[in-house]
Amino acid sequence: MSTLAGKYIVLGLSGGIAAYKSAELCRALVKAGVTVQVVMTEAAEHFMTAVTMQALSGRPVYTSQWDAREANNMAHINLSRDADAIVVAPASADFLSKLLHGGADELLSLMCLARPIDQVPLIVAPAMNREMWSNPATQRNVLQLKADGVQVLDVGQGDQACGETGDGRMLEAEEILDDLEAFFSPKPLAGKTVLVTAGPTYEAIDPVRGITNLSSGKMGFAIARAARMAGADVTLVAGPVHLPTPRKVKRINVQSARQMLDAVQQQVDAAQVFISTAAVADWRPAHSADQKIKKDGSGQTPQLGFVENPDILATVAHSPRAVSGQLFCVGFAAESHDLLAHATAKRIRKGVPLLVGNIGPATFGQDDNALLLVDETGARELPYASKQTLAVQLMDDIARRL
Ligand code: CTP
Repeated sequence: MSTLAGKYIVLGLSGGIAAYKSAELCRALVKAGVTVQVVMTEAAEHFMTAVTMQALSGRPVYTSQWDAREANNMAHINLSRDADAIVVAPASADFLSKLLHGGADELLSLMCLARPIDQVPLIVAPAMNREMWSNPATQRNVLQLKADGVQVLDVGQGDQACGETGDGRMLEAEEILDDLEAFFSPKPLAGKTVLVTAGPTYEAIDPVRGITNLSSGKMGFAIARAARMAGADVTLVAGPVHLPTPRKVKRINVQSARQMLDAVQQQVDAAQVFISTAAVADWRPAHSADQKIKKDGSGQTPQLGFVENPDILATVAHSPRAVSGQLFCVGFAAESHDLLAHATAKRIRKGVPLLVGNIGPATFGQDDNALLLVDETGARELPYASKQTLAVQLMDDIARRL
């Protein structure tokens, strides 16, 4: 379940073309179980109607501090006191400037100024033209707002409504949602660096053919995302999969097992936790042809010899930092049967303190899974749930062991 479920968020819109994304954000927040109270500035109403936002949030929208619906006529106090956060998206250049100076000439800025600063976090998603964004005035405002404790989200990069290209776009709704979820998540891995491998590897036979497996990478990507949510710096070494990179996760794409080992060895010294979820090919063709292998008409099949790939997990787990306890290594076991017995034996064989077993054929490509955590004291099951939920539970478990 999302960390946003049950929260009450004031969603403020200031004037900007990115307001169309706020409709989607509102919908996504409601879907995540958030009570969304929309407040719009007059400028915002030029881009989006209050009717749309009311329909999406399921609550009347406030646009004026003189709103007579409030018995005491103090909407700025009444709407913000119980809020878990005020999220201003889009936050225009003008609105950031107003926040910085403590301006309060309309309801949204008045509400931001009047909020109990220690109880109601203020999160802003800037949105503006690239020149406005890079202007020293805006950059100064952003720095000072951060110093004042305001959470200023990143801006996106790309084509802008004005026809120019650059920094300053508002993040997409799902990116803001992800950042809000991270904001509200407990941070048991704060200050830690986590290295994750994910997906299959691909071992070339020739330039057009190769050997791979059915791993989708979903579990590893969910773990990378959960580790970031838990406060860690995360590097994800991914085999060939077409999954989007979790936000704020550094991704290194590789193909073969040997490339994966190289990438891991380059990153692992900075890590305190190594989680090896990749389904590394156990063997690769002994020779990879430079040119496509052609049929010669004789009906003869090519003779493929194999050599064993390096065991990435075992290599890392036997390194001095892992042996001395500075690096905590977690292995995965994809089995087809006798999970407990195989996982127990594999944990010892790989030399890792924690091994996570799952039934491979039942989970490859699926969004759900069940995990069996095996350590030296025994085994504990994380019952069937979404891979995201399991990843969060696993991060909690790992954090307790560090
Ligand atoms: N692993 C690895 N490098 C390899 C093979 C496996 O790093 N060359 C890691 C996997 O990422 C996983 C663990 O080792 O964390 C176990 O992988 P699995 O494929 O289940 O086990 P294998 O060692 O390949 O043993 P087997 O196929 O015989 O079950």
